[in-house]
Amino acid sequence: MRIADVFENNRKWVTSKLELDKDYFTDLSKGQNPEFLYIGCSDSRVTAEELMGVKPGEAFVHRNIANMVISIDLNAMSVVNYAVEHLNVNHIVICGHYYCGGVKAAMQSADLGILNPWLRNIRDVYRIHKDELDAIKNEDERYNRLVELNVQEQCINVLKTAVVQKAYFARNIAIHGWVFDVHSGKLIDLKIDFPNILKDIMKIYSLK
Ligand code: CO
Repeated sequence: MRIADVFENNRKWVTSKLELDKDYFTDLSKGQNPEFLYIGCSDSRVTAEELMGVKPGEAFVHRNIANMVISIDLNAMSVVNYAVEHLNVNHIVICGHYYCGGVKAAMQSADLGILNPWLRNIRDVYRIHKDELDAIKNEDERYNRLVELNVQEQCINVLKTAVVQKAYFARNIAIHGWVFDVHSGKLIDLKIDFPNILKDIMKIYSLK
C-alpha cells in the first residue's frame, strides 16, 4: 500500500461516516467514555478494535511487543492509571496471541540487543512456570502455552498496581485474560481463576 492510498482511504472513510450520520465527528469530538482498557501485542495482525468489533470511543488501547505490563514502564503504567482513574473503565483486557514473535524470541537463546531487557520479562514468566512448560514435549504446544501463561502473568502485573487494587475493591473492576488465535480469527477467554491465583500472593503484593 502506498502512502497516497492511506489518505484516499481516509477520505472515503470520512465520507462514509458522514453519509450515515452527519454529526458523527462532532459527536466523537465531545469526548471518550470507553468501557474497556485493552492491552495487546503490537503484532500487525492483531487489530484490537476490529477483532473486538468496537467502535471509536469504546476501547482505550495500549499495544507493545508481547502485551507486557512492566512496573517500571512509564508508558504502560500511565495508560493503566489514566484508564482506571480518569476514564473509569470497567474492564481491563490483556490480549495475547498464539505464535507471538516476542514470545518466540524469548524462548530462544540469542543476544537481541535492546530487546534483551524487554524479553527478559517473558523469560521470567517461563522460569515461574518452568515445570509445567518443560513437561510439554511438543514445541508448538509449549510455545502457545507460554503465550497463555504470559497473558496470565501480565493480568497479575496489572493487579499489582495500586490504582487497579483500589478499583478492584471499590467498584469491582474486572480483569480478563484473552488470546487471539490468528489461525481461526477467534478470541479465546482463558477464564483465569483470579481468586485462586491471588490467594497466596496478595500478602506479598497488597498495597493496602
Ligand atoms: Co505478538
